[in-house]
Amino acid sequence: MTTELVYGKKNTDLTREELMDKISRQMSEKRFQHVLRVEKKALELAEKYHVDKEEASIAALTHDYAKERSDDEMIDLIKSHDFSNDLLDYGNAIWHGVLGAYLVEKELDITNPEILDAIRLHTTGAKEMTELAKVIYVADYIEDGRDFPGVIEARECANRDLDEAVAYETYHTLNYLLKSKKKIYPKTLETYNYWVVSN
Ligand SMILES: [Fe+2]
Ligand SMILES: [Fe+2]
Repeated sequence: MTTELVYGKKNTDLTREELMDKISRQMSEKRFQHVLRVEKKALELAEKYHVDKEEASIAALTHDYAKERSDDEMIDLIKSHDFSNDLLDYGNAIWHGVLGAYLVEKELDITNPEILDAIRLHTTGAKEMTELAKVIYVADYIEDGRDFPGVIEARECANRDLDEAVAYETYHTLNYLLKSKKKIYPKTLETYNYWVVSN
């Protein structure tokens, strides 16, 4: 999977290839392939919805940067930094977004707040999301390797309307969490209340 995208120096001093190399060292080959598929989908959505492609590429490539960090390291980070201690009640499914944004800034020197926000919110969504954050949230859900009941509808939503795709994903994610009796992170409810509930 290749892209013609060449980075300027606006968001990172790294080339796309150098960034990919650093990211691939953080995760299994299987997850790295997922990350590349998220980038492909994010670039398609960025083209369609007029989002900066370089930002979409960098946010997509870095979104799961912290996914394979150990629980011990994540717990240490939460305790030793200015993160809410409520996070300790959850697990890596939530942590890798919030702490991922921190680690990407610290270790990869990427400081664009919109990119960091897109990483931070990709696991939960939020009431307020930039178009870039929506692109990453949705691309992660519908990338070409995803195969779950409803993924075709989710892709159709994303082709029609980005906000509709955010709502679809949020509704179905929450349903899944409820059905499997998993703990719901409050931010996920905030996303649901804003994007799904019709007033
Ligand atoms: Fe993720
Ligand atoms: Fe992901």
